[in-house]
Amino acid sequence: MTVSPDAPLLFFDSGVGGLSILRPARALIPTMPVIYAADRAGYPYGTKSEAEIAARVPALLGRLVERYRPRMAVIACNTASTIALTGVRAALDVPVVGTVPAIKPAALQSVSRVIGVLGTNATVRQPYVDRLAQEHGADCIVLRHGSAALVDLAEAKLRGEPLDPAIARDALAGLLDQPGGDRMDIVVLACTHFPLVEEELKAAAPRPLAFLHGGDGIARRIAHLNGDNPWPATATPGTAVFTKNDPDVAALRPGLAQFGLERIEFL
Ligand code: DGL
Repeated sequence: MTVSPDAPLLFFDSGVGGLSILRPARALIPTMPVIYAADRAGYPYGTKSEAEIAARVPALLGRLVERYRPRMAVIACNTASTIALTGVRAALDVPVVGTVPAIKPAALQSVSRVIGVLGTNATVRQPYVDRLAQEHGADCIVLRHGSAALVDLAEAKLRGEPLDPAIARDALAGLLDQPGGDRMDIVVLACTHFPLVEEELKAAAPRPLAFLHGGDGIARRIAHLNGDNPWPATATPGTAVFTKNDPDVAALRPGLAQFGLERIEFL
């Protein structure tokens, strides 16, 4: 069945992190209609339990799909994807794209065979990550570190606030100070918030490190799954939907506009 050109793509994250997935998707498909949903009422996800995420995310996405009738849903969040992807797919009647740590491309590229995975605390402890490491990086040392402060840093950056350089430094030290960390050559940004502070991470790195995330691959996956369904002839402003209103939402408005999200609504 052909979908209407106006049927939007629904991007979902706990906060602004999914913008790092929206950006390459919009670059590939410039006229895609966008609904960007941020679960501020549930933020942050990375410090929550598996049970909380697994219960919350499919229910919330169900409400969003009912309201916005998207052609596809993109879970633009590693924490939600590594924990709740199966539950979300079972709950929705539209195609679902998840975001999982880019361990496969990192293992293909690493020369030193030591890879770092920087994510949320919840993501780095997932069996999903164990499986990716076993399948694609069996001959690599895969170091992991979870940072909640780096998630907050990305949110603060989008609000235009001054940033403390110690936060990026500490997050990288969490990997570099582990056994083998001195040989690490690639860091997988396994939380969608982190590409938004890649500049800060690069500046904080004591030596050159490559940073990798899955945004471009997800953009290609969206285009592939969309198949021949038509897109609009011209671009329209996107809508950001929040599950809670608070003063930070107003502070985010200019940052969201830079990503083409000019309207704000609440669920
Ligand atoms: N952006 C999300 C992720 O990829 C979650 C960050 C959070 O809410 O802790 O993992």
